[in-house]
Amino acid sequence: MKMWSGRFGQPLDPGFENWQRSFGFDRRLLQYELAASGAHTRALKNAGILTAEELIGILQGLDQIGTKAAESTAFLEDGEAEDVHHFVEKQLVNLIGELGYKLHSGRSRNEQIATDLRLYVRAAIDQLREELAELCGAIVERAEQAGEASMPAYTHLQKAEPVLVAHWLLAYVEMLLRDADRLADCRKRLNLCPLGSGAVAGATIGLDRGLMAASLEFDEPTANSMDATSDRDFAIEFVGALSLLAMHLSRWAEEMILFSSQEYGFIGLPEAYSTGSSAMPQKKNPDLLELVRGKSGKVLGNATALLVAVKGLSLAYNKDLQETQQPVFDAADTLLQMLPLITGWMGAVEFRTEQMNQAAQTGFMNAWAGATYLVNRGVPSRLAHERIGKAVQLCLERGCELTDLPMADLQALSPAFGTDFYESLKLSSVLAIHDVPGGTAPTRVRQAINTTRKKITALREEVHAHA
Ligand code: ARG
Repeated sequence: MKMWSGRFGQPLDPGFENWQRSFGFDRRLLQYELAASGAHTRALKNAGILTAEELIGILQGLDQIGTKAAESTAFLEDGEAEDVHHFVEKQLVNLIGELGYKLHSGRSRNEQIATDLRLYVRAAIDQLREELAELCGAIVERAEQAGEASMPAYTHLQKAEPVLVAHWLLAYVEMLLRDADRLADCRKRLNLCPLGSGAVAGATIGLDRGLMAASLEFDEPTANSMDATSDRDFAIEFVGALSLLAMHLSRWAEEMILFSSQEYGFIGLPEAYSTGSSAMPQKKNPDLLELVRGKSGKVLGNATALLVAVKGLSLAYNKDLQETQQPVFDAADTLLQMLPLITGWMGAVEFRTEQMNQAAQTGFMNAWAGATYLVNRGVPSRLAHERIGKAVQLCLERGCELTDLPMADLQALSPAFGTDFYESLKLSSVLAIHDVPGGTAPTRVRQAINTTRKKITALREEVHAHA
């Protein structure tokens, strides 16, 4: 039986009927639909709509639906169910007879889908944050292993200053921890329960909304029935946070691809995550990285799809909102599949620290440190910059580095140069002068590793508290 056939005199066009169904994709919400239905059933009993016996009958029926779904996917092959809400009602009536029709008393599918989707997003957030903690942990591990190895840092993709490899890796951990934090923030806002909102104006039966919210581990009931049944901010915010995460992973992938090229030679691609070419026998391609970069585009597309789907809707529920489910599922699936693979890749990649160290010694990356040497001897910064620039120019003419310039040439540029200038240009000196919190001096990076580990532990604890 349809959920709404009474006022219709004619059957639906079969093509339209099939086309407007959402059961093909919202079946994945079944566990949340069952949990929310259980909460509603208990509230119906408390409101005097169901007897104690009926309550037990419906709860057992809901339980059986869950068991049957877990046992066989064929159970979900239902060509008639309009959506997951209709499916549960149909199956319940199959199992317990007409009593099943009492479940829908005083509620609407509008509040149900709003509730199910919130429960889905909440669970996805918890899983994603767990995966992010794993990935961050793997990156910090590699940072620790890199010790005091250094590499060039680039601005404008031109060699800028040397940094510790560990410092570079920790930059990605910062991005990912912010992503985890954004997801936690989204979770906080979405964790309110729409049940009892009815179709638009609130339930027509005195349901205990606080009880329903608590039994689904929501913080409290939503405040306004019109908002609760039509709000999809939480979904947009979720996919928005995932867009930033995907963007970060895409930048990461792009950089790893560059650094794995023969021209850089900084990293050796792990064979377990690469493929060869069917044509060129010598190739080892960075497939994992390329797919991370490629799939991130889809996630940004999903965020746009959601915004556009909702932006023109008058209050409250409109069927357009059915279209907000798939972009959410797709974005969550994409990242949930990707993150553990990236963690695996991070553990397996080879950092060629010798090549990286070598690259950190050339290309005048000590020029700013050289200018700082002059500044420390009282030369005004602008003039110091200009003097070192002249020194670089000399080097370019001679094909040498700053350390190769004789003292006589340096003295001709500025009397402030002394023999300790050469010491100040050494890689270890250059690294050490970046001695501020957040800088690349080895002592600072060691501190940063410790602080980062603590942040990851805190994240893990938060995730387990929700589990
Ligand atoms: N399948 C619908 C959705 O996903 C459920 C809500 C249907 N509500 C309605 N008034 N037709 O949005």
